[in-house]
Amino acid sequence: MWNSDLFAGKVVAVSGAASGIGAAITRRFLEAGATVAAGDLQTSLFTVLQEELGPELSRRLVPLTLDVSNPHLADDFIRAVISKLSRLDVLVNNAGIAPVGSVTETTDEMWRRVMAVDVDGVFYLSRAALPHLERYAGCIVNIASVSGVGADFNYAAYNAAKGAIVNLTRSMAIDYGKAGVRTNAVAPGPVRTPLLVKNLESLSGLEAAFGKFIPLARIADPREIADAVVFLASTGASFINGAILPVDGGVTAWNGQPNGDFV
Ligand SMILES: NC(=O)c1ccc[n+]([C@@H]2O[C@H](COP(=O)([O-])OP(=O)(O)OC[C@H]3O[C@@H](n4cnc5c(N)ncnc54)[C@H](O)[C@@H]3O)[C@@H](O)[C@H]2O)c1
Repeated sequence: MWNSDLFAGKVVAVSGAASGIGAAITRRFLEAGATVAAGDLQTSLFTVLQEELGPELSRRLVPLTLDVSNPHLADDFIRAVISKLSRLDVLVNNAGIAPVGSVTETTDEMWRRVMAVDVDGVFYLSRAALPHLERYAGCIVNIASVSGVGADFNYAAYNAAKGAIVNLTRSMAIDYGKAGVRTNAVAPGPVRTPLLVKNLESLSGLEAAFGKFIPLARIADPREIADAVVFLASTGASFINGAILPVDGGVTAWNGQPNGDFV
C-alpha cells in the first residue's frame, strides 16, 4: 500500500516494537523504505519478528533493548539510535501495558507500573528524542487509545494513563510546532494483539460483544493501526499537528445510547 521509497533514508524509532501493534508499525515503516530502530523489553521476540519480516526487510531493522520506564535506559536507546544510524526522523511511542482493575482493585504497585510504562515512558523517550527531531524536522506519533478519550470499565490506571497521553500529545504539538516538529496520536479501539487476545481467550463472549458494540462490527488488525501511524508521520500529514486520530471502527462516534437491537 505504501510506496517503498516514502521513507527512504529516514530513521524511525519504535518502542514496544517486538509484538502486536509495534511489530506491525515496524513492518509498515520498513515496507515504506525506512530504517527502523526497534526497542523492546522482550528482546527474545525480535528473532520471531525478523523471521516474519524476512531477510530483505530485516536488513533495515536495528533491534535494541529498551525499558521505557527507566529514564537512563530511554536516554541510552536514543543515544544508540543516533550513534548507529546518525539521525532520527520519527519517534513512535507505542510501548504500553494494560492491567485490569477498577480503582479499588488497583494496588499501588500496579498504578505505579502503568504510569511508569504508559506515561513516563512517552515523556522520557520524547524528551531524549526532541533535540534530534528538531534537527531533521521530524515528528512524534503516540499510541494513545479510545481509553484515553472515554473510559473502559475496570481499567482505571490505563484510562488515566492514556488520558495523560492524549493531552501530552497536544502539549508537545504546541510547544515544538514552531521548531518544525509535529506531534500526533492514534487512538485505537480494540486490536487483535497479544495484549487483547489474553482477554478474548479468558472472557467467553467478549469477541461477540465487540462485534455488537463496534459500528464496523469487528476488532481491528494491527496493520490498520500501523497504516494510520505511517500516514501521520508522512509528508501527506504535513499540516496535521496535535491531532488525536481515532482508529476504532466508529466506537467513539457512538454516545452509548442503545438502539432498537438492544431493547
Ligand atoms: N491491543 C489493543 O486493543 C489496543 C487498543 C488501544 C491501544 N493499544 C495500545 O497499543 C500499544 C501496543 O499494544 P499491543 O496491543 O500491541 O500490546 P502488546 O502487549 O502486544 O505489545 C506491547 C509491547 O510493548 C513492550 N513493552 C512493554 N513494556 C515495555 C517497556 N517498559 N519498555 C519497552 N517495551 C515494553 C512489550 O514487550 C511488547 O512487545 C500500547 O500502548 C497499548 O496501550 C492497544
